[in-house]
Amino acid sequence: MTPTEYLRENRARHLEELFEYLRIPSVSARSEHDADTRSAADWTAERMREAGLETVEVAETPGHPVVIGEWRGAEGAPTLLVYGHYDVQPPEPLDEWVSGPFDPEIRDGRIYARGAVDDKGQAYLHLKAVEAHLKANGTLPVNVVFVIEGEEEVGSPNLGAFLRKNAERLGCDAVLISDNTMFAPGLPSVSVGLRGLAYMEVHVRGPASDLHSGQYGGAVVNPANALARIIATLHDEDGRVTVPGFYDRVRELTDEERRSIAGLPHDEEELREEVGSPALGGEKGFTALERLWARPTLDVNGLLSGYTGEGAKTVLPGKAMAKISMRLVPDQDHEEVERLFADHVRSLAPEGVEVEVRALHGGSPWRADPEGPVFEAAKRALREAYGKDPVLTREGGSIPIVHTFQEIFASPVLLIGFGLPGENAHAPNEWMSVENYQLGAEAIANLYDHVADGPR
Ligand code: BES
Ligand code: ZN
Repeated sequence: MTPTEYLRENRARHLEELFEYLRIPSVSARSEHDADTRSAADWTAERMREAGLETVEVAETPGHPVVIGEWRGAEGAPTLLVYGHYDVQPPEPLDEWVSGPFDPEIRDGRIYARGAVDDKGQAYLHLKAVEAHLKANGTLPVNVVFVIEGEEEVGSPNLGAFLRKNAERLGCDAVLISDNTMFAPGLPSVSVGLRGLAYMEVHVRGPASDLHSGQYGGAVVNPANALARIIATLHDEDGRVTVPGFYDRVRELTDEERRSIAGLPHDEEELREEVGSPALGGEKGFTALERLWARPTLDVNGLLSGYTGEGAKTVLPGKAMAKISMRLVPDQDHEEVERLFADHVRSLAPEGVEVEVRALHGGSPWRADPEGPVFEAAKRALREAYGKDPVLTREGGSIPIVHTFQEIFASPVLLIGFGLPGENAHAPNEWMSVENYQLGAEAIANLYDHVADGPR
């Protein structure tokens, strides 16, 4: 039996297993889910053992554990490191889910659940590809080491140190990651760029407590008004970020890059419909794809102040808070951008309030050259599974650890996404296509063969 035949024969069971995985509410951000997050790690380890990986370990960190699984029986063959995460984003708002976030259900060829695509479905299909080789052939053509972490959704605070400490053991010829999207249904993709991130919190404090807005309004500076004013000045008329120095290190798109992006089958009206906004917007002078992939941004993620309950309450809030993130592109440095932002926002504080700026977490942008034997093997494997040549894409999202992988192992990182536009990652009704779960595993199983055949 070939690995592909094995995968096709076991499709029903492989879906059942994924459903079990998805039922575990491994929300890394919430301490009340710590036991669930731990049980997702144990579950991952158990399935690795069943798939035939030889050395499996739930490795402790100061936070949620990292699950390591190794098979190193292919002497002299390349070693692939597969990275993914078993933690998920919080599911709220719950009332917007058609079926429960931890009660997976298939509708219209899609598996609906929190973590379906980000990242349990995508991580698990890699394990199924390994299982297919080991059960069908009793061997693998390459060596593999899985690194499945439980803190990706909270910025991977412990993984960098863990990788550095275990660098020798985890050494590899290439890193494989599926925690991102395919450009369009049926159109396989290899991503060669990710944006970085600088995530900030701005606290504005005025009077010692909330006040009667009639008794004091007009004589006391309102922190909510002040914060709104600060935020309003952070973009200019052309949609550019006004933080001084923000664009200094931004690598401008080359004509060649702009042509290649423009050559992709993309319709901005479809994007508008996908998100359901009345119109798209952003920095002037760029297409939507350019803005998403190659331009830095600044966005309010959350705002908190005053009375937001039912009806009207006349109150002058004592404080206001905003969570603001910036997506970064090469060669911006997240620590530098955090400093620039903090200095600038502090300088905007009007008299009568105090402004405090905190950096929560950050990550470097990433850009790769799509060349080398593993990249060629991936192209071939995707073509076989999907009947189409993959397109080269970039991503607007961030996987900060990718930069760290490249730094530590000096080996190429391959980002092969099996998510799809509209997949609702981090949102209610997250889904992954059943077809991509299945074809993804076939593609990865093929990839192992081609990595082994190809030149090193
Ligand atoms: N899977 C995403 C990253 C992603 C999203 C890649 C969309 C490509 C397209 C990942 O789980 C994620 O959400 N990353 C965070 C990083 C943050 C928590 C440091 C992100 O991008 O917000
Ligand atoms: Zn995510």
